Amino acid sequence: MTGDDRAREGREPDRKDPRARVEWLRATIRRHDHLYYVLDRPRIEDEAYDALYRELVELEGRHPDLADETSPTRRMPGAVAEGFRSFRHPVPMVSLDNVTSEAEMREWEVSIRTFLRAGEGQAFRYSVEPKVDGVSLELVYVDGRLVTAATRGDGTDGEDVTTNAVTIRSVPLRLSGERPPPYLCVRGEAYVRKSDFEAYNRKLADEGEEPFANPRNFCAGSLRQLDPSIPAGRPIRYLAYVVAKAEGITFPSQSKALEELAGWGFPVSELNTIVTGAEAVASRFREVEGRRDAIAYEIDGVVVKVDDAALQQRLGTRIRSPRWAIAWKFTSRRAVTRLKGVTWSVGRTGVVSPVADLEPVALGGVTVSSATLFNVDELARLGVRVGDRVVVERAGDVIPRVVEPVVAERRGDEQEPVVPTVCPSCRSPLSRDADKVALRCTNFACPAQVERNIVHFASRGGLDIQGLGPKQVGQFIAAGLIRDAADLWSLTKESLVALDRQGETSAKNLLARLLASREPPLDRFLYALGIPEVGERGAKTLARAFPSLAALAQASPEALDELDEVGPAMAGAVAGWFRNPRNEDLLRRLDAAGVRPVPVGGPTSGAFSGLTVVFTGGLAAMSRDEAKHLVEAQGGRVGASISSKTSLVVAGEAAGTKLAKAKELGVEVIDEAAFLRRAGRSDGA
Ligand code: IVH
Repeated sequence: MTGDDRAREGREPDRKDPRARVEWLRATIRRHDHLYYVLDRPRIEDEAYDALYRELVELEGRHPDLADETSPTRRMPGAVAEGFRSFRHPVPMVSLDNVTSEAEMREWEVSIRTFLRAGEGQAFRYSVEPKVDGVSLELVYVDGRLVTAATRGDGTDGEDVTTNAVTIRSVPLRLSGERPPPYLCVRGEAYVRKSDFEAYNRKLADEGEEPFANPRNFCAGSLRQLDPSIPAGRPIRYLAYVVAKAEGITFPSQSKALEELAGWGFPVSELNTIVTGAEAVASRFREVEGRRDAIAYEIDGVVVKVDDAALQQRLGTRIRSPRWAIAWKFTSRRAVTRLKGVTWSVGRTGVVSPVADLEPVALGGVTVSSATLFNVDELARLGVRVGDRVVVERAGDVIPRVVEPVVAERRGDEQEPVVPTVCPSCRSPLSRDADKVALRCTNFACPAQVERNIVHFASRGGLDIQGLGPKQVGQFIAAGLIRDAADLWSLTKESLVALDRQGETSAKNLLARLLASREPPLDRFLYALGIPEVGERGAKTLARAFPSLAALAQASPEALDELDEVGPAMAGAVAGWFRNPRNEDLLRRLDAAGVRPVPVGGPTSGAFSGLTVVFTGGLAAMSRDEAKHLVEAQGGRVGASISSKTSLVVAGEAAGTKLAKAKELGVEVIDEAAFLRRAGRSDGA
């Protein structure tokens, strides 16, 4: 919070003075937005925040004279637009030259040295920043107020997407700080965190919708929506990386500009560093590359900028790119290989999607022999043919995907892939809804769907029974041993051992694990059932709200809809699921097998009762998921990031920035051994 905000916020004013009250509410909400979205340090409960926001909306409604376009209420999605106006950039939006190796980076340094006629002895200072993989977004402020947000477009003219950009909470609507410049044009990246992107895609998949191909498409698509309520519902964030133009202020360096940006309330990357000399640039590059997967958002390299503004000025900008900066891209996780065929895979909910069968190729340290083609529409859009040479890409933890065919290498005998009309597993006809891109098998007894459902049932988020992957489950189904999850508990040692590749020990182990898993927490049981619309989070909400499975099974859609975090779609899906005779039968048979979910209720008893625990670094004795279950089973909650609400931090191997933050906030930190002792799991020795 800046001095002037603090002054404006002051003590909570009386409700009888609407002007003072409105100003106080705005300043308070602005401060909490900044804490949450920029500093990642929430300081207020969601309910309390919502109450402030509601009061502000209500007061502004009653006092139109107090309107202000920098009020946080401006973030409420506005009317649907008919199109976007074009916006001429105050300074052309150039791009960066790329280098892909240390040698090329050193050549670049030699070129600037030559251009500046600088001697060998002069070492340059560089700002080394992550190259965030999103879409560039320009923000223009006049007298400290956001007036325009624009996309890059062709670099000269972009699209005015202000109505969408204001819904991004980390985009400041007004500048804080003592003396914001009268005119400021800032550039940065609209991006999405990997975890938010994956959660959003999972939600889409749970709802039977098609997921987004990658974070960049997600962001670019969101900014170009005519209906601002669409981006408003998406977890888009912003990072500022350069001042394109400012009036009344000059910066001695890029690093000073970044500092000033942070002071005005902009989020800037915590990974930005200043180094001296090419050697240090290279070592910083390797460091960032090594941490790539652990970084919260996708980055595809680093941007190296000459820090000194006077040198930048002398180096200047060519037509397409500045001389003073380069993008050093990570080694590509792309490769070219041959598409041997397209197979069709049936998902848990019956969605049938194309999968590329590839000639094996090395890609970022693993051998890839299949890749997703997403859905029929994407297959058509890509225009790939069987026999094509295709570009495949692996980004972060995301499954490999086909990017495009290498059309220039076609020989003429490549074949259009054939879109099936019947289910590849059960041969029932496929349906395709008019407005959905998904092909669907609607046969509930389809063996492929049954297999996926059982695998999901036993998966880590579900009953967490190891040894029940697609291979085993497929084998049990093919041998006629099981038809649904309830049948798992009628497996016998004899029936298992009679199967190919099943030894006596592994059969015994599986049966023991099945017996041990018969009292799952209600939320994981609900998730395991694979009820449409119910993901892990939804299952938790339901389990907390109902004392038992029976109570939930009887709840009406109206009663469900009244719960926080449960919308009409989920309410309908849940009520419908429990009223389906086939599902009633499954629940009866699970119960007969002794599978009895245990109600969760609120945090009750146990070593972590009422505590919010955050893990950082790697654990040696167990996976993160196991550790999470352990905490939850003993009354605690596991948080993703450290905030004032965190009660305890468990620091494993190579704990990173979270540890520093915990220390800063004075949160108790323990190591893995101490954690295990508290959980009663070992003597901690
Ligand atoms: S500086 C003149 N810094 O990379 C300076 N760009 O071609 C121009 N990008 O699409 C850009 N992170 O949106 C800069 N830290 C960073 C960046 C960054 C990502 C993107 C930018 C543009 C491309 C550069």
